[in-house]
Amino acid sequence: MSFNANDLHKLDISALRSQRWYAPDTIRAFAHRQRSQQSGLNREEFMGKPVIGIINTWSEMSPCHSHLRERAEAVKRAVWAAGGYPVELPALSVGEVLVKPTTMLYRNFLAMEAEELLRQHPIDGAVLLGGCDKSTPALLMGAISMDLPVIFCPAGPMSSGKWRGHVTGAGTHTKKFWDQLRLGAITQHDWVELEGAMTRSIGTCNTMGTASTMTSIADAIGFMLPGASSIPAADSRHVQMAAQCGQTIVDMVWHDHKPSRWLTRANFINGVVAYMALGGSTNAAIHLIAMANRAGITLTLEDMEAVAREVPVLANLFPSGDQLMEEFFFAGGLMAQLKKVQQFLNLDAIGVTNRPVAAWIANANCYDDNVIRSLDNPVVPLSQGCALAVLRGNLCPNGAVMKSSAAKPELRHHKGAAIVFDSHQELSDRIDDPALDITKDSVVILRNAGPVGAPGMPEWGNLPIPKKLLQEGVTDMVRITDARMSGTHYGTCILHVAPESAIGGPLALVRTGDIIELDIAKGSLNMLVSDEELAERRRTLKPVHKVYERSYAALYQQHVTQADQGCDFDFLQAGSKVPEPPIF
Ligand code: FES
Repeated sequence: MSFNANDLHKLDISALRSQRWYAPDTIRAFAHRQRSQQSGLNREEFMGKPVIGIINTWSEMSPCHSHLRERAEAVKRAVWAAGGYPVELPALSVGEVLVKPTTMLYRNFLAMEAEELLRQHPIDGAVLLGGCDKSTPALLMGAISMDLPVIFCPAGPMSSGKWRGHVTGAGTHTKKFWDQLRLGAITQHDWVELEGAMTRSIGTCNTMGTASTMTSIADAIGFMLPGASSIPAADSRHVQMAAQCGQTIVDMVWHDHKPSRWLTRANFINGVVAYMALGGSTNAAIHLIAMANRAGITLTLEDMEAVAREVPVLANLFPSGDQLMEEFFFAGGLMAQLKKVQQFLNLDAIGVTNRPVAAWIANANCYDDNVIRSLDNPVVPLSQGCALAVLRGNLCPNGAVMKSSAAKPELRHHKGAAIVFDSHQELSDRIDDPALDITKDSVVILRNAGPVGAPGMPEWGNLPIPKKLLQEGVTDMVRITDARMSGTHYGTCILHVAPESAIGGPLALVRTGDIIELDIAKGSLNMLVSDEELAERRRTLKPVHKVYERSYAALYQQHVTQADQGCDFDFLQAGSKVPEPPIF
């Protein structure tokens, strides 16, 4: 979809930000022009052109982004052809699997880097290349704060995979096969063979995990060429899309089409509608709040819960359904899915193309009703759960979330005795101990795993089911934590408990044996312990998490907000505008 310049004023070259660096007749500007020619460019090749930054999160430690150097070349060729001057800016890559303790620790780092890369350089607009989980919200948070014209070029999901006739969805099936290995249902040899077979191509996870949840939401908000998030990474149309991003950003710069000109609360609500219809990852609840906040827009857990009560899970994708992202693309992709929920969308909202949502979906078609479902044929009816349930109670006064559509029906209202672990290490050491006093009705709790406690709130929330219960056929239990969970996982997992235990949230007061009551229908989560007893426990409470005194982790612990506030740094949230750098 091309850029719509109607009704927009076209800037004069002198109005471009980069001209502050390049145009003046000063010794400093001479140095800028001179140094830009050091790489072999002729003066006329870049002078008088919009400078387009390509923020690239490529890294050999980020396999989901391994093709982004080639995609950057496609963007560049289109920027040159459209009369711009492209420059590639490498940025921190937060590859989900290899970064420890968690990429969430570094989301704010990348957001800061994206903002400062744009601020410190003579950039007029940018193409953002990312897609693996945290890279999408991070790049967008930075770009929203800097408020230059930007377009997001998603890495795209990997191709669908199969192993010995079984579908292999990244993440979702890793956990499934791991449990099968623990039960002896597959052999060690099978397990090693799976290692080399499960991730079939370049691209992000092929399930509706956090990566596709966040790229689809960003698409629905308006940060992409409509439908770009659904294009598989290995498809030739993905390269074509990258080039179209290059062409579009030049038009966006000439018309100063920056986020503050088009990004509204309605855009974010459209993103939330997509989130729910897709059965997206619970992680999105944190990222959406943080992104909206950067734009000075209030978006709360209650706002998302209100949409979740109306929009059921419609996309038949793992982990809620049984298909993969490639099938979703062939079925019509995100635009076809949005068309099925158009009554919930603000059709007048515009995005980077300066065209309304109504135009994005006008020609969208669904080619497979099993993959892209209608409201009268959901994957999970609202009566059986939704993509995001928000819980409150004396265990989580500021909220906790869960994907209630992934919970076993018999656990939707549950009372059970808590079994508490103070650290992930303790959990790992003890969970398979045959002497552990645990039954299928127990409530497993992991604490000190939140934003401050871990730090970084890792994806530990899909707490393992003890081997002895797996052997009895138990496949789900109520599990509670202040950590997050991978979007590719499933189960009755209550996450993002706020405030977290490390800062004295009530989760810190629970003791093994306390009775916990979960009632999803009522949106409540409580420990059945008297206020007097809790007050007494608080009196003797001692923090047990590690406090960092130096390094980025120290900065993080000192400034990160809680899950219900987006886990951004307090000093990065929307506020007074940062001045442009002086050029002397
Ligand atoms: Fe990168 Fe899943 S690990 S998208």
